[in-house]
Amino acid sequence: MSKVIIALDFPTESAALALVDQLDPSMCRLKVGLEMYTAFGRPFVKNLMDKGFEIFLDLKFHDIPNTVAAACRQAADIGVWMTNVHALGGLKMMQAAQKAVEEVGSGTQLIAVTILTSHQQSDLPLIGVNDSVNDQVARLACLTAEAGLEGIVCSAQEVEMLKGLNKLPEDFVFVTPGIRPEWAATGDQQRIMTPSKALSVGSTHLVIGRPITAAEDPMAALKRIQEEIK
Ligand code: C5P
Repeated sequence: MSKVIIALDFPTESAALALVDQLDPSMCRLKVGLEMYTAFGRPFVKNLMDKGFEIFLDLKFHDIPNTVAAACRQAADIGVWMTNVHALGGLKMMQAAQKAVEEVGSGTQLIAVTILTSHQQSDLPLIGVNDSVNDQVARLACLTAEAGLEGIVCSAQEVEMLKGLNKLPEDFVFVTPGIRPEWAATGDQQRIMTPSKALSVGSTHLVIGRPITAAEDPMAALKRIQEEIK
């Protein structure tokens, strides 16, 4: 199965489906995030699954353990391939979420967001974190593994450091956004990496949005990326 997860960030269902209908589900998975889920919900996700796509439901839950577990149970009940929580919700929250997903038994993988890549070092003291970004990401990655989740969302630039800790399971999943082929526009992403470089440092899945979704021929862009990472 493809390591590429295409971020479906569109304001309308018709715009998203116009893209999706050009894509081959054997060549990519789809990420549905807060915008599209808030607007079009479960029927939209089901529709994509009916078209043969595996879905990463990227809703980044962060609440008390009982509430997050209930939300994760619903996500697993849809049968999505992957969903996620914020590691900052803590050990008990992540354990409750993992247990809920396992109880449903649909095979949904649960991962956690460590520190959002939109945060810079200078943002952390403002939220009471006095460690470096790397130390905080490492701490939250280890907590995620301790809670029994499958992996994390992080910057591709952090994967080598995290693997070097030798504290995470061998099969830990590293889902990395901020991916830009050399031929694509950077947009608002700051800390970028090419698809092949990201895989070579240990990313297991690549979240790619605009280099594919905004391309004149999205399927050609996807094929070009697949060729590059072969
Ligand atoms: O278009 P682009 O490739 O920048 O899209 C990246 C996707 O990954 C977007 O859906 C964005 O919200 C998401 N994302 C990110 N950085 C994170 C977490 C998620 O860019 N740290």
